[in-house]
Amino acid sequence: MAATAISHLRRGAQRHALLCLSLSRRRFSATAASPIAAAARRLLSTTADTGTSSSGEQYKPPPFDPFRAATLSPSAPPLESPPIGDEPPSSPPPPEEAVASEAAHEQATLACQEVELEGLKAGVEAVKSREESPEEKEAWWLLGRAVVNYCGSAVGTVAANDPSTSQMLNYDQVFIRDFVPSAIAFLLKGESDIVKNFLLHTLQLQSWEKTVDCYSPGQGLMPASFKVRSVPLDGNSEAFEEVLDPDFGESAIGRVAPVDSGLWWIILLRAYGKITGDYALQERVDVQTGIRLILNLCLSDGFDMFPTLLVTDGSCMIDRRMGIHGHPLEIQALFYSALRCAREMIGVNDGSKNLIRAINNRLSALSFHIREYYWVDMKKINEIYRYKTEEYSHDAINKFNIYPEQIPSWLADWIPVKGGYLIGNLQPAHMDFRFFSLGNLWAIVSSLATQRQAEGILNLIEAKWDDIVANMPLKICYPALEYEEWRIITGSDPKNTPWSYHNGGSWPTLLWQFTLACIKMGRRDLARRAVEVAEKRLSDDKWPEYYDTRTGRFIGKQSRLYQTWTIAGYLSSKMLLDCPEMASILICDEDFELLEGCACSLNKSARTKCSRRAAKSQVLV
Ligand code: GLC
Repeated sequence: MAATAISHLRRGAQRHALLCLSLSRRRFSATAASPIAAAARRLLSTTADTGTSSSGEQYKPPPFDPFRAATLSPSAPPLESPPIGDEPPSSPPPPEEAVASEAAHEQATLACQEVELEGLKAGVEAVKSREESPEEKEAWWLLGRAVVNYCGSAVGTVAANDPSTSQMLNYDQVFIRDFVPSAIAFLLKGESDIVKNFLLHTLQLQSWEKTVDCYSPGQGLMPASFKVRSVPLDGNSEAFEEVLDPDFGESAIGRVAPVDSGLWWIILLRAYGKITGDYALQERVDVQTGIRLILNLCLSDGFDMFPTLLVTDGSCMIDRRMGIHGHPLEIQALFYSALRCAREMIGVNDGSKNLIRAINNRLSALSFHIREYYWVDMKKINEIYRYKTEEYSHDAINKFNIYPEQIPSWLADWIPVKGGYLIGNLQPAHMDFRFFSLGNLWAIVSSLATQRQAEGILNLIEAKWDDIVANMPLKICYPALEYEEWRIITGSDPKNTPWSYHNGGSWPTLLWQFTLACIKMGRRDLARRAVEVAEKRLSDDKWPEYYDTRTGRFIGKQSRLYQTWTIAGYLSSKMLLDCPEMASILICDEDFELLEGCACSLNKSARTKCSRRAAKSQVLV
């Protein structure tokens, strides 16, 4: 195993060196002093949330998305075509005016990038010169202590560093999802090397061949976590070499494949590029191939009737049985976000045209599906309550054959008059009405939810503060599964008892995602309130992984202490709140072109109405 590991690393290193030589290319050509840059500066000057107002303020989206893939340099070397769709017939060369206008557009785009980069660099300086509270100082010290080194460089942070327990299980590993808030904290502070190393090393792990009982997961899967191990060098018991040993789920409790890892990796890659201006990293052939492998895995055809990703239970932050198999919101929101980010980063060339088309089609179908079918508020629940069932036709109103009796008794009283949310899951004859925080928050951040829905979600959190925040932000989901439901759905899981851990426990790491969503929607007042609640307890409680009870009063029964993503989530929230314009490295704004493009072309069929109009009306309502 060690020998395989080392030979793999060597192969990776050779590949890496060759690619570096062939691809070192700078993307910025326009200077900030040019007229185009000045125009771009004017455009972007309206976009920054200056951090002066507190409540009701609005993060303003840029008038157009300056980082669309279509404007990336067409000189990027062609990559192998993905197995998506048929090659279209080759088209005649574009007329001269079209080439000129594309070049002008590209120049303007580069100028905008440069302006945004300048703003972000100023933001990093502002973050560095901030006065830190004693809690923040302690958190930075703890985050530094969690850093993992590999061959002399920092490559990630351990999940937890809890000296009070010898039962570390796999918490001594670097988890991909757990590292994201650490990475954001480091990036905001101008410490980007660790993030770059993490991105490149996890990329090398992507191609490892791992098997579970003689079966290998799909190519492109990113590990859930990895560990640095020392192995004897070529059989010599005195000399040791470090190797990275990934876990794709083959040793994880429950053996679940982490679908979210690759999605997080793409989201982080974009954030890294935006804040550092090091676009050369995402343009490297190995990085482009990595993006493509992840997307191929997500976009490959299956038996699905829905544009949402079909996954097993436990394939994300909730990594054990909790009844979220199927099409859980969390995965769909991260999927949407990763597709948006990837589209900005994929080099446009003949080899990537099909992939970009597939991404666009999926984005528009996915956003329509989630906006239309996952959204519930008072009005919608009342509609469901009066649904007719067993409708066999193309015009069925109750498309998924939901029996109204499914509406849980808690929901009728709980749903506020103002606001609503995206449900946890949708399957034939099944709506999971539980409220899942991460999916709803990330739907806001990525613009998977409409502006109106995003406002509604935050209104609901405000109205239901005592259920979702109470003594510790934020509940992972609401409400908990109890009694028979708990027994059947979790398999009597003693870790997921009602109001504990994944089953309605409170996870302080979700604070940074809440902060991002609040900044995007101009509701920093809410995020500040939540940070204040957390700040009162986290340091005294030794930065726990999660809290238990209906109102988050107790430190979780089996909670680790000094949990890194609790620490990093708190730090990131504090910095983002003080410098809210930095949130743009993770946010995606509404893409109106996507709503124009009808993915399914159903309008050509007399059978069904096109979803495009409906999708557009979603934005306008
Ligand atoms: C738990 C969490 C998972 C996290 C891991 C490491 O398994 O459910 O989301 O990544 O711990 O912190």
